[in-house]
Amino acid sequence: MPGLLLGDEFPNFEADTSIGRIKFHDFLGNSWGILFSHPRDFTPVCTTELARAANISNEFKKRGVKMIALSIDSVADHNSWSKDVMAVSKNADTDLPFPIIADDKRELSVLMGMLDPDEKDKDGMPLTARCVFVIGPDKKLKLSILYPATTGRNFDELLRVIDSLQLTAQKKVATPVDWKPGDKVMVIPSLSDAEAASLFPNGVTTEEVPSGKKYLRYTHI
Ligand code: BEZ
Repeated sequence: MPGLLLGDEFPNFEADTSIGRIKFHDFLGNSWGILFSHPRDFTPVCTTELARAANISNEFKKRGVKMIALSIDSVADHNSWSKDVMAVSKNADTDLPFPIIADDKRELSVLMGMLDPDEKDKDGMPLTARCVFVIGPDKKLKLSILYPATTGRNFDELLRVIDSLQLTAQKKVATPVDWKPGDKVMVIPSLSDAEAASLFPNGVTTEEVPSGKKYLRYTHI
């Protein structure tokens, strides 16, 4: 089964996009990146997703994350669909603020394990699932999420996971369930109490549990 695992170097593919031909690593430069795939142009859920992505593109920019979408249609279709997307985003006079890859031969979709076997086009060919890949400045895969074509993604969640990925890439912490920026974070298990005390000047608190084991250690960053 082709596909990408966390920590893999993200493929440095060449592709035609709505902003011309790109080599992916050059497109990313030293930035973080997010690549999100879509089943097809001119489909309803995809259009709402891209409109939302366009509306919050400044939030990705603030975090230093370059956005790029992908679907299995042509550049001409992407350019035409982008106008619909921007109208739905209520910014009809503005260009889509990120490119869309034209994977009309499904080569990248196969390479990266993005096809959804349950969703087929009228010729019986599989459509792309809703994949999300977050790539770090080192070009390695930091996160992947895979949704079926019938379930639209939550772009607030994508910003939230990027905040977690960027924080935990810098500090020896992990983010607990439903964490949001500003909430307390957890000290990672590999740090000793002494190391944690010296690394976290705001202090470390430990939650008591029946086992008596002191693994629920929180701090504020
Ligand atoms: C959509 O984007 O609405 C969609 C695409 C393929 C299958 C189901 C829904």
